Amino acid sequence: MAIKWQLWMLSLIKHALLLLTATSQTINGDDLSALLSFKSLIRNDPRQVLSSWDSIGNDTNMPAHVFCRWTGVSCNNCRHPGRVTTLRLSAAGLVGTISPQLGNLTLLRVLDLSANSLDGDIPASLGSCRKLHTLNLSRNHLLGSMPADLGQSSKLAIFDAGYNNLTGNVPKSLSNLTTLMKFIIKRNIIHGKNLSWMGNLTSLTHFVLDGNRFTGNISESFGKMANLIYFNVRDNQLEGHVPLPIFNISCIRFLDLGFNRLSGSIPLDIGFKLPRINYFSTIANHFEGIIPPTFSNTSAIESLLLRGNKYHDTIPREIGIHGNLKFFALGDNMLQATRPSDWEFFTSLANCSSLQMLDVGQNNLAGAMPISIANLSKELNWIDLGGNQIIGTIHTDLWKLKLIFLNLSYNLLTGTLPPDIGRLPSINYIYISHNRITGQIPESLGNISQLSSLDLSNNLLYGSVPVSLGNLTELQKLDLSVNALTGQIP
Ligand SMILES: *[C@@H]1O[C@H](CO)[C@@H](O)[C@H](O)[C@H]1NC(C)=O
Ligand SMILES: *[C@@H]1O[C@H](CO)[C@@H](O)[C@H](O)[C@H]1NC(C)=O
Ligand SMILES: *[C@@H]1O[C@H](CO)[C@@H](O)[C@H](O)[C@H]1NC(C)=O
Ligand SMILES: *[C@@H]1O[C@H](CO)[C@@H](O)[C@H](O)[C@H]1NC(C)=O
Ligand SMILES: *[C@@H]1O[C@H](CO)[C@@H](O)[C@H](O)[C@H]1NC(C)=O
Ligand SMILES: *[C@@H]1O[C@H](CO)[C@@H](O)[C@H](O)[C@H]1NC(C)=O
Ligand SMILES: *[C@@H]1O[C@H](CO)[C@@H](O)[C@H](O)[C@H]1NC(C)=O
Ligand SMILES: *[C@@H]1O[C@H](CO)[C@@H](O)[C@H](O)[C@H]1NC(C)=O
Ligand SMILES: *[C@@H]1O[C@H](CO)[C@@H](O)[C@H](O)[C@H]1NC(C)=O
Ligand SMILES: *[C@@H]1O[C@H](CO)[C@@H](O)[C@H](O)[C@H]1NC(C)=O
Ligand SMILES: *[C@@H]1O[C@H](CO)[C@@H](O)[C@H](O)[C@H]1NC(C)=O
Ligand SMILES: *[C@@H]1O[C@H](CO)[C@@H](O)[C@H](O)[C@H]1NC(C)=O
Repeated sequence: MAIKWQLWMLSLIKHALLLLTATSQTINGDDLSALLSFKSLIRNDPRQVLSSWDSIGNDTNMPAHVFCRWTGVSCNNCRHPGRVTTLRLSAAGLVGTISPQLGNLTLLRVLDLSANSLDGDIPASLGSCRKLHTLNLSRNHLLGSMPADLGQSSKLAIFDAGYNNLTGNVPKSLSNLTTLMKFIIKRNIIHGKNLSWMGNLTSLTHFVLDGNRFTGNISESFGKMANLIYFNVRDNQLEGHVPLPIFNISCIRFLDLGFNRLSGSIPLDIGFKLPRINYFSTIANHFEGIIPPTFSNTSAIESLLLRGNKYHDTIPREIGIHGNLKFFALGDNMLQATRPSDWEFFTSLANCSSLQMLDVGQNNLAGAMPISIANLSKELNWIDLGGNQIIGTIHTDLWKLKLIFLNLSYNLLTGTLPPDIGRLPSINYIYISHNRITGQIPESLGNISQLSSLDLSNNLLYGSVPVSLGNLTELQKLDLSVNALTGQIP
């Protein structure tokens, strides 16, 4: 009897689609045929994750529900045994398209097909999965636009279609998804000008639109998303002022406005309005005004990234007082230091023992640094102080840092290069051009085997070029011009 069952099931699977129409009444064929249809549209399964999807195993007790044990499938619904509730096939190497028949899995709660090589469209029929809670299609090669029918999956809480090639608009029908918590469409080609209707999605905690083609203004209505933790519109074509209510969502920890055409200024009370802010970026926009000193009242802040705007005036003196800053990028603005007290910010950064990036380059900081860079965090690996009017000498103990990038060019530095500079263990880039550095080029530079750029041009260096530089096999850029050097470049 058992053997007969197996033979019957095997032949059933071979001719599944034909047979199922006749037998679906008896064996809950809708979910089985949907799964078989899914498999049939997978063109390549290099890791054989769907190999179990043919086997009917040795289980003769519940042959109709055997697909519930297939890899990635589960049916843990007591009231409807044999109905699929979860399909998880993440990072399985699958190549193919997504079968529209998945829409027949009407009790499906979780569909995770992320990190495969699926192409084609997102099937509109997924809107028929009215119980769908999590839909993760990220990191595939999906095309077309987000189907409006998704607005019918009114229980959807997590939608992630990031890292695909989706086009079109965000369909307005999604305003139906009042329980949506995570909306992630990062790195697609989606456009849209007016998303003000999305302000009604007040359950959102993650609103992640970065790397698309959104234009127009950021809608004031987004301020209604009172539960927002993560807000990312980086790298779009948004313009105009950021509405004040956005800076008033007190849950926000991550706010990235970078790489747009946004303007206006940051509200002065931001540090009190966003007490949990951990990551704040306006990199590469047209913001102006001052850097609010209340940033020093937000102890959670680790990344303050304001490079490439038109901020002016001084850098707030207590900016580092809470000691948690890791990435501090204020370069390429109109910030200034004229008096020694304007450099107090630098002293406060000594509190930040995990500081990795110090970028205040391309501003108008004049005068001497009040403490040595080497007295800042031991974790510093990126220093950009170039393009200011800094006076003084280069600290001899720089080599204690784990620097990867050092830019001191276009300043008023004097003295000699530190003889131990070659002890910097992992540096790739050294730019010290356009200063008034004198003396000889240290032999030790030849020890930095992974150095890829060295620019010491436009200084007052003399003597011969050390032959040790000939050992710099990774060097792609070397500029020693406009000095008083003699001899040959090795
Ligand atoms: C079926 O049972 C036989 C013997 O009981 C066993 O050798 C075989 O591995 C089983 N096959 C599967 C797919 O479980
Ligand atoms: C299953 O889905 C397909 C495609 O969406 C549809 O044409 C078909 O009618 C569905 N079958 C059943 C039994 O619901
Ligand atoms: C979706 O899947 C990707 C890749 O497996 C994962 O990195 C991401 O965190 C998932 N998205 C959500 C919202 O959980
Ligand atoms: C999107 O399309 C471009 C151009 O065809 C292709 O190079 C890129 O790999 C695609 N990206 C994804 C995630 O499929
Ligand atoms: C909104 O959801 C309801 C209930 O699921 C559904 O009947 C309706 O068609 C949906 N509206 C849109 C625009 O999708
Ligand atoms: C955006 O759309 C809303 C209605 O959906 C409308 O009230 C508002 O004026 C629009 N904004 C712009 C800038 O077009
Ligand atoms: C958004 O909510 C407001 C107020 O509840 C309502 O008047 C408006 O119709 C909603 N907009 C959409 C697109 O659902
Ligand atoms: C919207 O953007 C345009 C273009 O930058 C700008 O003129 C307008 O003032 C903006 N509106 C708001 C409310 O910021
Ligand atoms: C910010 O939030 C406070 C308290 O919720 C509210 O009184 C105030 O009007 C809001 N300001 C803006 C600009 O939305
Ligand atoms: C905000 O920070 C500044 C500078 O550290 C401090 O003087 C001030 O007392 C703080 N204000 C509040 C309300 O904590
Ligand atoms: C932080 O830096 C200030 C100087 O700006 C100093 O007075 C203070 O003691 C430091 N606090 C800590 C905790 O290191
Ligand atoms: C270049 O490197 C080799 C091998 O690492 C070493 O023997 C030699 O002394 C170095 N030459 C100079 C000029 O530093």
